[in-house]
Amino acid sequence: MVRIGRRIGSGPTGEEQVDDVMTIIGGARTTQDAAVTALKEKHRAMWALGDYPALAAEVIAPLGPALVEAVGVRPGERVLDVAAGSGNAAVPAALAGGRVVASDLTPALLEAGRRAAEARGVALDWQEADAEALPFPAGAFDVVTSCVGVMFAPRHAVAAAELMRVCRPGGRVGLLAWTPGGFIGQLFATMKPYLPAPPPGVQPPPLWGDEAHVRGLLGDGVAEVRAERRVLTVDVFGTPEAFRDYFASHYGPTIAAYRAVADDPARAAALDDDLADLARRSARPGARGGLVLEWEYLLLTARRTEVGVS
Ligand SMILES: C[S@@+](CC[C@H](N)C(=O)[O-])C[C@H]1O[C@@H](n2cnc3c(N)ncnc32)[C@H](O)[C@@H]1O
Repeated sequence: MVRIGRRIGSGPTGEEQVDDVMTIIGGARTTQDAAVTALKEKHRAMWALGDYPALAAEVIAPLGPALVEAVGVRPGERVLDVAAGSGNAAVPAALAGGRVVASDLTPALLEAGRRAAEARGVALDWQEADAEALPFPAGAFDVVTSCVGVMFAPRHAVAAAELMRVCRPGGRVGLLAWTPGGFIGQLFATMKPYLPAPPPGVQPPPLWGDEAHVRGLLGDGVAEVRAERRVLTVDVFGTPEAFRDYFASHYGPTIAAYRAVADDPARAAALDDDLADLARRSARPGARGGLVLEWEYLLLTARRTEVGVS
């Protein structure tokens, strides 16, 4: 049994009592640190800010189909997409014939995904779920995916263990994440000084874009690991300022950074400059003017072996 959290005494039957939320993971009882629980509440609100479904459709839409193709979803397979948002990978997985559960922390995004899927004539099961405590039995899915999603769960090892638990032995895992050195990794590094420090133990999301880190998380529970760094070419922003303003109005983490400095005009202006500078430094000119940005990501697929992660 793994215990995390403060012990506060014994219950009526002698069991240990803790002051945090209790979760059951693979039969082992753990406690979520209260600070992490509070952080997830903030994340749920943050991802509902702005208009993430529009960003997913207008800027990063090719990522979902790329992940579905790499992991090779076949008709009739049971697929779980973790941190599915508005269905960037989940909807293509359903269009490929998978029986898909799209799960996410943020109900507003699932609702947007449900509407988008209906418009495309495809049915999925949309379920609110924390990637660190998935409400599904062990081995329930043939394929488990996450597209720039599980990387945002605070505790990487806890989330990775959950991905592995719900994937059946012999099933496949497909993960797509922004790399630390790529554009979105650098975006997070740029915003970091403007945001409150996360609780101890919370790891930076772009680490999921580091192959060695992900291999370490999946451990010896996988075989046939294939990892490739690719780039998404983004040419929808005419200027560095257009990139900045779009993210400041559409992307929850960027909106949160601006909110954190809202009462300090000098800091807000510095954030303005830093975000535009990031785009300016990273871009090459497009053929018709405008910017061309290349956003690097890691695409990793693996087969779950019979021996699981304990
Ligand atoms: C960048 S979006 C990616 C959404 C979608 N997969 C896509 O490709 O567009 C990150 C998603 O992670 C979700 N998320 C963040 N923390 C989570 C957690 N602890 N458990 C489940 N989902 C989480 C957010 O609600 C958001 O939908």
